[in-house]
Amino acid sequence: MKRLSLSPINPALALTLALALSLSILCVAEGAYQNDTHALTQFRLQTDTHGNLLPNWTTADACSAAWRGVECSPNGRVVGLSLPSLNLRGPIDSLSSLTYLRFLDLHENRLNGTVSPLLNCTSLELLYLAGNDFSGEIPPEISSLRLLLRLDISDNNIRGPIPDELAKLTHLLTLRLQNNALSGHVPDLSTSLHNLTELNVTNNELRGHVPDSMLTQFGNATFAGNHALCGSTPLPKCPTNETESPTPRVTVPSLPQTTGVSVTASDTPRKKGMSAGVIVAIVVAVCVAVLVAASFAVAHCCARGERSKLVFFDRRNQFELEDLLRASAEMLGKGSLGTVYRAVLDDGCTVAVKRLKDANPCERNEFEQYMDVVGKLKHPNIVRLRAYYYAKEEKLLVYDYLPNGSLHNLLHGNRGPGRIPLDWTTRISLVLGAAKGLARIHAEYNASKIPHGNVKASNVLLDKNGVACVSDFGLSLLLNPVHAIARLGGYRAPEQVEVKRLSQEADVYAFGVLVLEVVTGRAPSEQGGMDLPTWVRSVVKEELFDEELLRYKNIEEELVAMVQVGLACVVAQAKKRPTMLEVVKMIEDLRVGEDYDESRSRNSLSPSLATTDDGVA
Ligand SMILES: *[C@@H]1O[C@H](CO)[C@@H](O)[C@H](O)[C@H]1NC(C)=O
Ligand SMILES: *[C@@H]1O[C@H](CO)[C@@H](O)[C@H](O)[C@H]1NC(C)=O
Ligand SMILES: *[C@@H]1O[C@H](CO)[C@@H](O)[C@H](O)[C@H]1NC(C)=O
Ligand SMILES: *[C@@H]1O[C@H](CO)[C@@H](O)[C@H](O)[C@H]1NC(C)=O
Ligand SMILES: *[C@@H]1O[C@H](CO)[C@@H](O)[C@H](O)[C@H]1NC(C)=O
Ligand SMILES: *[C@@H]1O[C@H](CO)[C@@H](O)[C@H](O)[C@H]1NC(C)=O
Ligand SMILES: *[C@@H]1O[C@H](CO)[C@@H](O)[C@H](O)[C@H]1NC(C)=O
Ligand SMILES: *[C@@H]1O[C@H](CO)[C@@H](O)[C@H](O)[C@H]1NC(C)=O
Repeated sequence: MKRLSLSPINPALALTLALALSLSILCVAEGAYQNDTHALTQFRLQTDTHGNLLPNWTTADACSAAWRGVECSPNGRVVGLSLPSLNLRGPIDSLSSLTYLRFLDLHENRLNGTVSPLLNCTSLELLYLAGNDFSGEIPPEISSLRLLLRLDISDNNIRGPIPDELAKLTHLLTLRLQNNALSGHVPDLSTSLHNLTELNVTNNELRGHVPDSMLTQFGNATFAGNHALCGSTPLPKCPTNETESPTPRVTVPSLPQTTGVSVTASDTPRKKGMSAGVIVAIVVAVCVAVLVAASFAVAHCCARGERSKLVFFDRRNQFELEDLLRASAEMLGKGSLGTVYRAVLDDGCTVAVKRLKDANPCERNEFEQYMDVVGKLKHPNIVRLRAYYYAKEEKLLVYDYLPNGSLHNLLHGNRGPGRIPLDWTTRISLVLGAAKGLARIHAEYNASKIPHGNVKASNVLLDKNGVACVSDFGLSLLLNPVHAIARLGGYRAPEQVEVKRLSQEADVYAFGVLVLEVVTGRAPSEQGGMDLPTWVRSVVKEELFDEELLRYKNIEEELVAMVQVGLACVVAQAKKRPTMLEVVKMIEDLRVGEDYDESRSRNSLSPSLATTDDGVA
């Protein structure tokens, strides 16, 4: 083997080395403070670790090569960065040197760490960081961002006080702080922030007196979801000699953190343990329908002294098992995996609780790992798992409650007189939403190949805005695959008859069946023994489409295109099916000629780069 020989250093080489070294030092200094391309490259390396989210961020210059989401000034400085909903994860430290940045939109990613690196970006006017995993406090030095017009850090895990220094951001128009864990008092911002028209601090842990001027200007809805605020009506009256020191909180040992669940309920106040008897009494007395599941659970854990409790994935909107017990509950239905209840908590918040049928589907560690996988996935088209409960004889899953039924109901419910037809535009948007949800699951678990495992119309739910959300992701993971396929009753791909295995390709097949179901209006089990894809291939075009759709003019081309999408997904050979990402594109391309931009109409919070200038006006 050849070794490096330690020969005396050649003077020429030494000189070259020294030069190179000093040059590289120069470059680093420059890179840190002046080279925006370098800063963005660092950002990519830290937040796109698989290297597939920002594929064209690799050329030498961000500005001359039009990197995705990057906007530059004529003199080659980055002034805008817009990368919403990309699943970027990691810290934003590298953005601290973008001192010309005026517009930053990173909402709905998985970015974490503190927001402090942005304090140096003193040109910022529009800052949208909602829906990430940012933690830490709002630094008082945020007042150095003097030009800020809109600040949105809602839906993160930010704690600590709302700093009084925010009052120095005099241009501020919008301030969204909701759904965090902010504590302390509400500062008086109304006297200094004359142009502030939108303020939202709902669902935090604020306490104490709300200044009258704030209440008058913004109304009580702005402050909802904070348990200890008081002031003028309609807020609860403050005790006359109220001291604003927070009451001491009981600390509870948290669950063993084997799976790295981001947050447990350990920092919320906790009622002292009640006896099982008392609990049962309360349940019987108060509940409209008894949440049997939970009472069993408590009885069990109290009896055995086990400290099981609800494990949340998120700091916001937490509650205790006791709150679930007190909730009025109503059974929504029985699925293949368990019974689902709708529970309305004391504070009016509604959740869906699923009680798993198999009390012991798998070991605790494994269960927690699976829950962690499911709970970490945040996407507008995926029903959110908020918490789970694990005790020996009882497993509960707590989800966001979606009030508008399922795609299955909409398609097949009340057929016959009096039915409200499901129009074509709505069908497309629901199919597209479901496709995006699945695409996200597949992208997230691209490496580990975790599938959804149970794609069917009754697992596509509608949220309060009528947006389609995929439900039940991950539950198939809890079952032995052979049992899963037999039990779940999703639409089965041909290869699953032989290879009893859930797969992402089988998800695509099932999604294809769902697409055909939406176009034909036929339930997959309704064709006299034939499966839906076979039926679709066997009939003439005139018999193919749902009668309800025939009333709409000029959609035939789109209907045919949608059938093509469905058929592409249900090809027999798994490897030849498109990926869900490709399916999303196919559906989006269906309506090329029309002004159809679902994301724009739905998410008015989502700014486009054009807002940079509008926002100033
Ligand atoms: C800026 O940084 C990029 C990436 O680190 C590098 O390729 C480029 O040469 C740098 N440009 C200047 C002018 O330093
Ligand atoms: C990078 O991607 C964006 C959109 O994704 C595109 O507008 C831009 O032209 C691309 N740049 C290059 C150099 O390919
Ligand atoms: C941010 O997330 C990454 C994983 O995505 C994790 O390794 C890191 O510890 C997190 N950092 C903080 C400050 O939470
Ligand atoms: C902000 O810039 C100053 C120098 O201008 C530097 O010392 C400081 O570390 C920077 N802060 C951050 C968070 O990058
Ligand atoms: C508030 O808005 C008015 C009207 O849009 C504008 O003229 C004024 O400069 C703004 N004040 C601040 C402090 O931004
Ligand atoms: C605000 O107060 C009104 C009564 O003035 C009440 O009807 C409403 O429910 C309150 N809203 C919230 C969010 O508390
Ligand atoms: C505040 O935000 C919450 C959650 O995003 C929303 O439901 C509520 O309507 C908002 N309230 C106000 C007053 O804007
Ligand atoms: C508050 O007032 C009550 C009676 O009005 C009194 O008993 C109590 O000591 C007071 N507390 C403080 C902290 O002053």
